[in-house]
Amino acid sequence: MDDETDAFALDYDAELTDEPQFRKYRKPVDLTDLVEASESPHEFETTYKPSRFEKSWLGESLAPFYQQNLITDVLYHVKGGKEASVYCCIAHPSTGFDLLAAKVYRPRRFRNLRNDKMYREGRALLTADGTVAKRTDHRLMRAIGKKTEFGVQAQHTSWLMYEYTTLQRLHADGAAVPKPIGAAENAILMEFQGDILKAAPALSDVGLTTDVALTLFAESLRNIELMFRLDVIHGDLSAYNILYWEGKITLIDFPQVSSVETNVHAAFILQRDITRTCEYFQRQGVSCDPDQIFEELWERYAAERIKATDNLEPFEEED
Ligand SMILES: Nc1ncnc2c1ncn2[C@@H]1O[C@H](COP(=O)(O)OP(=O)(O)OP(=O)(O)O)[C@@H](O)[C@H]1O
Ligand SMILES: [Mg+2]
Repeated sequence: MDDETDAFALDYDAELTDEPQFRKYRKPVDLTDLVEASESPHEFETTYKPSRFEKSWLGESLAPFYQQNLITDVLYHVKGGKEASVYCCIAHPSTGFDLLAAKVYRPRRFRNLRNDKMYREGRALLTADGTVAKRTDHRLMRAIGKKTEFGVQAQHTSWLMYEYTTLQRLHADGAAVPKPIGAAENAILMEFQGDILKAAPALSDVGLTTDVALTLFAESLRNIELMFRLDVIHGDLSAYNILYWEGKITLIDFPQVSSVETNVHAAFILQRDITRTCEYFQRQGVSCDPDQIFEELWERYAAERIKATDNLEPFEEED
């Protein structure tokens, strides 16, 4: 790795302070002017000042959202996680929102992928338009098998599109998830939780009164059940991936979703999601039994579904 890429990795990883890097709320950026003024078509000025090494990746990743008139500015960096960095953006008025969250996936070589094989079990590969890749696409299948640049990019796209299409399904069915607004090669755009000065904290950083805890626990269970009814298991659910803003919760971070129909580890993953969620609420004074909640849910939805799909051969993403 050369010095530049190394510095980029470090810089991109840099933990940011709690203070958002908000400078001033200024008038929306005009992409056309910026594109003409900048050296590279992807390097436009934003209120948020990215570091030198973050700049081109951020510009390249968000350019489609500027071009589609979905955002007009980047206000501040919210947080860098294992696989993505999230930014607070000013929404284009046509979206009907004031602010939007851009989740920019890290460049592949810097992503600290979760051990994702367990989640990909039985999962179809999704293409950039969110449709399932055809098994007869031999060029693609070969590229994935051989882990060529093209194949790795296809898996990266699939990971991101699982997050986006899951948000679409869940939002349409009334789950407490951010409304998805756009998807591009390296980023997704969604409803923002927070305001121009700060993003919503994760539930893990919030202490609740018992009354509020009971209400939010019921809402969490409603969401877990609603997802399960749609055959969606979050896979990384805990108080770290539930945001809290103005008395309401929002579930986030869906790229690793899995399905009872195709994932043999589904029971383990669901039980872990329920247990981790219960652990937080138990600390807030809610008495609950995660094993019992899991068993009831599993019996209600999974058994029938597994029976119905027993004879189907799953289509797996290859390694
Ligand atoms: N819609 C949103 N509105 C406001 N903040 C958000 C939104 N989505 C994500 N965030 C913030 O960005 C952080 C990282 O997002 P997310 O969990 O989706 O990415 P990640 O890279 O998988 O992170 P991690 O590795 O921490 O799980 C979240 O913990 C949250 O603070
Ligand atoms: Mg997360």
